Amino acid sequence: QQHKPWGGVFDGDVDPRVERFSESVSFDHRLHAQDIRGSIAHARMLAETGMLSADERDQIVAGLEQIGREIAAGEFPFKQELEDVHMNIERALTERIGDVGRKLHTGRSRNDQVSTDFRLWIRDAIDRTDELLANLQRAFVDRCDRDHGIILPGYTHLQRAQPVLANHYWLAYTEKFQRDRDRLADCRRRVNQLPLGTAALAGTTIPIDRRHVAAALDFEGIVANSLDSSSDRDFAIEFAFALTLVAEHLSTWAEEWILWSTVEFRFLRLPHAYCTGSSIMPQKINPDVLELIRGKTARVVGNLTSLLVLVKGLPLAYNRDLQEDKPRVFDSADTVEACVELAAAVVTGAELNRPAIHEKLGRGYLDATTLMEHLIKLGVPQRTAHEIIGKLVGVAMKRDLPLNKLEVAEFQAAHPALDESVYQVLGVDHAILAFSSEGSTAPAQVAKQVTLWKDRLGLE
Ligand code: ARG
Repeated sequence: QQHKPWGGVFDGDVDPRVERFSESVSFDHRLHAQDIRGSIAHARMLAETGMLSADERDQIVAGLEQIGREIAAGEFPFKQELEDVHMNIERALTERIGDVGRKLHTGRSRNDQVSTDFRLWIRDAIDRTDELLANLQRAFVDRCDRDHGIILPGYTHLQRAQPVLANHYWLAYTEKFQRDRDRLADCRRRVNQLPLGTAALAGTTIPIDRRHVAAALDFEGIVANSLDSSSDRDFAIEFAFALTLVAEHLSTWAEEWILWSTVEFRFLRLPHAYCTGSSIMPQKINPDVLELIRGKTARVVGNLTSLLVLVKGLPLAYNRDLQEDKPRVFDSADTVEACVELAAAVVTGAELNRPAIHEKLGRGYLDATTLMEHLIKLGVPQRTAHEIIGKLVGVAMKRDLPLNKLEVAEFQAAHPALDESVYQVLGVDHAILAFSSEGSTAPAQVAKQVTLWKDRLGLE
């Protein structure tokens, strides 16, 4: 075991199958930049507290920087037998600068090192995702000038319900993605606590200055309890959860637009750059990107589930099980970033089919609730008004007519308070204008929100 950094106590070699089974460098090599950054901060701190001379520090820092450049250039041979990215880098350092390199691991363990690197990585991933989500929000809000005044059917149970402005739809998604951004920002605060210096589980007797390292690595604070930190993966699970909700929101939107682009709906024309064809049916323009965004949500949910099961019942503190967290988190981050990026492109490139939407807007009694509320405002109790309008809709349905094609006499027969004025609230154009409540699809409300969002997202 001479070549293992931990080989001293071992009386023989580890089974080569164990090396293959337990390695993590095949995936944690993605932490190389964070590992080098963390080690440099650690070495500088050790020089401050007198554990390294200035010269030793400079050798270590220069050696790490050189290794960093080689890795970035793809010239660094990661070795499976050195298990992970951390031991690969440390071994390379010692090979280059000699015994001084053997001092780098003073006052730290891989347990706090892994957690530090992973937090740095997640912090960057959060910032990238936030920017991508902001772009997606901008894509929705950018549509609002183009689609101003377009009315769409709003659905519940996928049955026509009430009329809604297209812009109200776009801002509905903008709100969802804002909550996702808020969740990521909240998660970031907990990610951004430095574990380095908690060492294996109990801390260290070596004089170290954790706050010095925290400041150098832009952490907001240091984790308070070494035992807690050694076992903690909350920060990663929370991140995976925040990403899961992003994916869930995207899958809802993707499903909706898949439907809207069908011949049955004909609301939407998807940009061809984000569709693919069929190898047998020449006419096909399939919404594959949207389908894959919907489909990839499954793996993001699966990753979260894996992480939750992974930590279930683990005793304090560090357990090797925790090595399994990285592939799941990397996969969720990669998947969601790709989905959000493509979603923005689809949102920008899609076109609403105004004539086709308009043609069928008179169907489905989208104005029935408006008429009921009209009657309520004339003094009829809600339950009574509901019953009366329900009967009227029944009459219209039997004759396959929209409500505004019924005669005044029929309204009068339904309730004497219903006179000529009903025609001023019937039909989707009137029905939209009748809305007034805050947060509703009333044109004035939506216009106010559009202005607000443009402002928040730095548009115009
Ligand atoms: N490669 C491992 C990981 O990524 C490091 C394990 C360090 N700790 C230990 N006690 N073996 O988590």
